[in-house]
Amino acid sequence: MSRYEIPQMVYDDLATFKKNHADFLAGKLDELTFKTMRVPFGVYEQREANTFMVRIKLAGGIVTPKQLLTLADLAQKYAHEAIHITTRGGAQLHYVKIEDIIAIIETLHSIDLSGRGGGGNTVRNIMADPLAGTAPDEVFDVSPYALTLTSKMLEQKDSFALPRKFKITFSGSEADRGYATIHDVGFIAKIQDGVKGFKLFTAGGMGAKSRLGTKLRDFVPDTEVFLYSQAIKQVFDKYGNRKNKHAARLRFLFEDLGLEEFNKLLEVELEAVKAKGDWELPITEIERTVGDTTHEPFSVPENIKKWWNRYVYAQKQAGFYGCKVPVHLGDIHFENARALANALLPYGEDVMRFTGDQNLYIRNLTGPQMASLHDILQAFSKDVAKPTLFGDMVACTGAATCQLGIARPRGAVDAIQKRLNKLIDERDYDALQGFKIHLSGCPNSCGKHLIGDLGFFGKVQRNEGYSYPAYNVVAGSRTSGDGSVYAQKAGDVAAFHVPAFVEEVLDTWLKHVKAYKSFADWIDDGGLAIITEISKKYVDIPSFKEDKNPYFDYDAVELFSLKGRGTGECSAGMYDLIEADKKALKEALEKEEKNFELIRLLSARMLLVTRGEDARDKEAVLKAFKQHFIETTLLNAYFGTMLEGDADEKSIELAEEVIKLYETMDHTLKFAKEKELAAAAATEAKPVASAHFKDLSGVACPMNFVKTKMELSKIGSGEVLEILLDDGAPIDNVPKSVASEGHTVEATTKEGNGWRVRIVKK
Ligand code: HEM
Ligand code: SF4
Repeated sequence: MSRYEIPQMVYDDLATFKKNHADFLAGKLDELTFKTMRVPFGVYEQREANTFMVRIKLAGGIVTPKQLLTLADLAQKYAHEAIHITTRGGAQLHYVKIEDIIAIIETLHSIDLSGRGGGGNTVRNIMADPLAGTAPDEVFDVSPYALTLTSKMLEQKDSFALPRKFKITFSGSEADRGYATIHDVGFIAKIQDGVKGFKLFTAGGMGAKSRLGTKLRDFVPDTEVFLYSQAIKQVFDKYGNRKNKHAARLRFLFEDLGLEEFNKLLEVELEAVKAKGDWELPITEIERTVGDTTHEPFSVPENIKKWWNRYVYAQKQAGFYGCKVPVHLGDIHFENARALANALLPYGEDVMRFTGDQNLYIRNLTGPQMASLHDILQAFSKDVAKPTLFGDMVACTGAATCQLGIARPRGAVDAIQKRLNKLIDERDYDALQGFKIHLSGCPNSCGKHLIGDLGFFGKVQRNEGYSYPAYNVVAGSRTSGDGSVYAQKAGDVAAFHVPAFVEEVLDTWLKHVKAYKSFADWIDDGGLAIITEISKKYVDIPSFKEDKNPYFDYDAVELFSLKGRGTGECSAGMYDLIEADKKALKEALEKEEKNFELIRLLSARMLLVTRGEDARDKEAVLKAFKQHFIETTLLNAYFGTMLEGDADEKSIELAEEVIKLYETMDHTLKFAKEKELAAAAATEAKPVASAHFKDLSGVACPMNFVKTKMELSKIGSGEVLEILLDDGAPIDNVPKSVASEGHTVEATTKEGNGWRVRIVKK
């Protein structure tokens, strides 16, 4: 068995979806309602309006040659010619028309593949070690678990309406090639007292607030894989934060509850799953059907030795080989997909895996069979003829198609490759076998920068009033279950300089590579500081007048800006802008000969972005500053007088006040004084009504919200409830959630270490 099973429920859901799709096309169903239905089927809209993509679940990355042939047909007929391999080893078809999605989904179902749970707040594609079933170091083959658990999860109604996405993976050994510690639920194979089972990790994940998974159990028998996955999912379903999607992933709930409390809730759900029955996971091994089972010793022909040494590995089954096929940026043209699928058809079903490094692996071939693929593979991707460094670059789609993107990492990968390509004959890049460069267009980490050797994630920098694309640099991750470590911050670089920066980092690492076991070891032994020093050379760019190129991102025709970025998600880029002005302001303040004009301008501009202002020239900046900060009394009226005429030494005072004000700003972009003013206004407007009161300090999310709701249920409409909340997640989440239920949050005022919140019941 190399396929997961699509249960009847998914076919039933498709029938409903089909009807809704027809209603939508006929104008009888609105766009938003339809969106809530299409996303859990893996159908997303791209940044360019009215263009869509379909995400397809490939459990454990498993795809059979026959399935690949059909995917190639779909890519040719309905999509942008390519099958895209995602950063979680799934597949995507891009630029499909909304009219065609039912035909695509039905075709997928006919080959036992589904997009159900491909997107939205669902159980996402279940991953596995790409070498599962063949790796010499594995404890046992984990791929059947990814397949069977996928079938089982597709059967559960609660898999499709969770507080947020839910990701599961399996690793076959402590090398943790399935990345157990960056998932909501991660299993690492283990045998204890002769029983097959797993170490179980939970609540890991990347993204702006990343967290490494916590080891929940040292051993779970393999029959309990569904039991635990389902019970953890139920805890998440019941207690996850549905109101604030930025704090909704399991890791936030786990942090709020702590291990002990989480375990208590888990025990309850484990019992509930057991009581329901049918929780033991029946496992069917995957058959390795191969044409030739002779184990003749194989001697590699001279002309293919270079490729063989780079990409082919000996499997744990004597006489059999696997091979990594680098796929440039994860895109396979349908003709190449067809050629490869046809070449692999004679060797059975279990011959291929898509992987999270946006490549694919071929497996279960004898030496001569593998050697016979050499020419087909050379035609398959231009990276096949190069050292592994090239194919091991991972990039998310970035601002080119993603609404949240700041930078365009795919273009950056092309630029890096162009530069390194020229050096291929001079440098020993083969000495860097396995070195991973990962890029994401923003802090959300779809390009998995935190688990690269060298990682980049998009940010905004500013030079003389103009924004330009740049990257945060991180370095030195380790992935090995208990010993996992995310890459650490190493510096910032302009997008324009990324290729030169990468070249210099690699040249420096090449000088040390023989002395260290891994790049991460070097990073820990002084390498990080070296990279930081290197990055400083590559962060600044020439003035806009001198050279406009650095102000454009790769493959972009328009000057760089955050325009078009999704609303409510801009805070990452916004903080970058504030920090850039603050840095420039501090430098200007430290100069012996002070440029008062510049100090005044930077002080006035620094916080404007928090008010949605993007003023560039001096006059517009000073005018907007006056309007938003002086007239609102956030700053003393005295500072208003110094905005007229030439700037003088009083600008220094202004700078200090603005920096102080910024320090009082919270995540909702409100300054402390603003909150005080709002509270005072509320008190003035109405005499204090006798308020009901509940002290919720020390009560974690989401229980504080639940308790607030309970208190509100005790009082009448129009009556007032005051609560005390802790700083941090509680004050960030509870008032928003209360407001979204229709009550009025009249005031939030600082009280001791926490906050007093005044709510009028709807
Ligand atoms: C329009 C917005 C987005 C697009 C187009 C996008 C695209 C993708 C794609 C294609 C993948 C591989 C998916 C798979 O096979 O399941 C992915 C993975 C990922 N996404 Fe996104 N994503 C978006 C928003 C977000 C947001 C808002 C977050 C976090 C707050 C996020 C975090 C991640 C992470 C951490 C991974 C990858 C790695 C992993 O979990 O193994 N994404 N994203
Ligand atoms: S990392 Fe950011 S830019 Fe890249 S796909 Fe994810 S959300 Fe979009």
